[in-house]
Amino acid sequence: MSEHSVIIDCDPGQDDAIAVLLALASPEFEVLGITTVAGNVPLSLTSLNARKVRELAGRPDVPVFAGADRPLKRALMTAEEVHGKTGLDGIVLPDPRLALDPRHAADFIVEAVMARPAGAVTLVPVAPLTNIALALKKEPTLAKRLRGIVLMGGAIGLGNVTPATEFNIHVDPEAADIVFKSGAALTMLGLDVTHQAISTPARVAAIRNLGTPLGRTVAAWLDFYNRHDSERYGTEGGPLHDPCAVAYVLWPELFQGKFCHVAVETEGKFTAGHTLVEWWAPKRRPPLGSPNCTVIAKIDHETFFRRLIERLGRL
Ligand code: BDR
Ligand code: CA
Repeated sequence: MSEHSVIIDCDPGQDDAIAVLLALASPEFEVLGITTVAGNVPLSLTSLNARKVRELAGRPDVPVFAGADRPLKRALMTAEEVHGKTGLDGIVLPDPRLALDPRHAADFIVEAVMARPAGAVTLVPVAPLTNIALALKKEPTLAKRLRGIVLMGGAIGLGNVTPATEFNIHVDPEAADIVFKSGAALTMLGLDVTHQAISTPARVAAIRNLGTPLGRTVAAWLDFYNRHDSERYGTEGGPLHDPCAVAYVLWPELFQGKFCHVAVETEGKFTAGHTLVEWWAPKRRPPLGSPNCTVIAKIDHETFFRRLIERLGRL
């Protein structure tokens, strides 16, 4: 019953790993591939982690492709303080048996999208947008051939790297700029929405109580990941960012947002990597640009977690 062909572009990362698991557990999806990029940890680790997650899910049929090992124009900034030295701290998983596909992630994205009818494929990037920008540059007709790009990144309000910037956009603002100007049908799930999706102790307990090896693994990841974020934000747990993007593709009825203009700052002294969201239509001046992105601001987090946990129980 696959309704949707998707490619998940990620930098696992515990929340990325859960996003991949949600996608792999969902019969609505044909997951064409998992692509990896440097972000939370260097590319060699995000790629290793994606291969571990594929095997944890028992999905040897889904290929994994490594992509960019650094942002387009900047040095890589990583986030071991959140995700741990391996990027997937919390539990030790067995070394994967299956190798990477030898193709570059950006080449795979272009091939997979161009080989299918227009409007067939949705890209779900939950990491710095380097691979997506490379693919869009490589194939200028790609943007219009996609069904859309549903990304986790940016914020209307406060950032999490600086007050102005969210990690995925902060790491590679030039790539994000290409994506936001590409003309693709874009949906952005930024911190405004992901900070409503908190993995509270009760939710982590419900995942552990699935009683499966996968449930215990996900709970162990979240125990690790939540430590940093709950202390930083004074919340009961960490925001479960990346699964929100996958959930939006599955269940858009759980979300609310607005179609508006979003620009990416690439030059500001304090603000490079900021997503400038023109949420209110201006009255005194012309808009900064035409609407190019559906910006999500609200999630029904109770239903989201209930459905996520049910899906994890299927694996
Ligand atoms: C984003 O940054 C990463 O650390 C998470 O995996 C998520 O994609 C949140 O800012
Ligand atoms: Ca991520």
